[in-house]
Amino acid sequence: MSAQRPDHADDRRLTVRDIRRRKGGEPLVCLTAYTAPMAEILDPACDLILVGDSVGMVLHGLPNTVGVTLEMMILHGQAVMRGSRRALVVVDMPFGSYEGSQEEAFANAVRLLKETGAHAVKVESGPTVAGTIAYLTRRGVPVMGHVGLRPQAVLADGAFRARGKRPEEAACVLAEARAAAAAGVFALVVEGVAEGLAREITAEVEVPTIGIGASSGCDGQILVTDDMLGMFAWTPKFVRRYADLRGEIAEAVAGYAADVRARRFPGEAETYFAVAKG
Ligand code: KIV
Repeated sequence: MSAQRPDHADDRRLTVRDIRRRKGGEPLVCLTAYTAPMAEILDPACDLILVGDSVGMVLHGLPNTVGVTLEMMILHGQAVMRGSRRALVVVDMPFGSYEGSQEEAFANAVRLLKETGAHAVKVESGPTVAGTIAYLTRRGVPVMGHVGLRPQAVLADGAFRARGKRPEEAACVLAEARAAAAAGVFALVVEGVAEGLAREITAEVEVPTIGIGASSGCDGQILVTDDMLGMFAWTPKFVRRYADLRGEIAEAVAGYAADVRARRFPGEAETYFAVAKG
């Protein structure tokens, strides 16, 4: 089994145009990363790496993504850029960094791009954001949209829940997807929606849809890497666990602790200029 991207005989970075051209073609492989070593591991297999604001929950122990700051996104964006070579890197604009005014959104998006070297930003495309997306894209900022379950709206919504079972709600999400596409996004994350709605959005918009909890009816898939690697005791319904790193780490740490307590570690092999025993 090869994890290499098949479309990459050359060594150049994928661009937003490359991603956009994949509409209806070979599915886009996308994952999140927040650190340089993880980006280095993911890069050969991924078309797109998202420095998601999920970093707040995954690495910083926050209850949701609301507390994530622009400075956190810049720091993690820089790390991922250092670790990746070929995948397109997209950085999330955190809650509060793009809703106040279009001018403020532009200034913050430019900071993210200039200070990280990343290639695009992502915004959660709620009902009022399409104007801001158009403002950014007209000024040269590549934007990825995000519709359906919008984690940054958790305080207003009260919970994370799948969207689009009720026809009125499905119509709202579809309208938001259309508006984001018309405003110039190069791709659209579709999160936590019923399969029928995911397929309808994918059929309607001209840009690739990247699903998370949105069925196989999208043009690509993204998961939070730590979820699919089994770093948490609980995984959402839409995640497939490809590893049990939590279990493996716990086992490794227990082995280390036992060795240290029994004075089995460090041994001679791990010691500089060991003194001959006996
Ligand atoms: O922040 C994030 O990781 C995301 C993905 C879940 C799409 O937005």
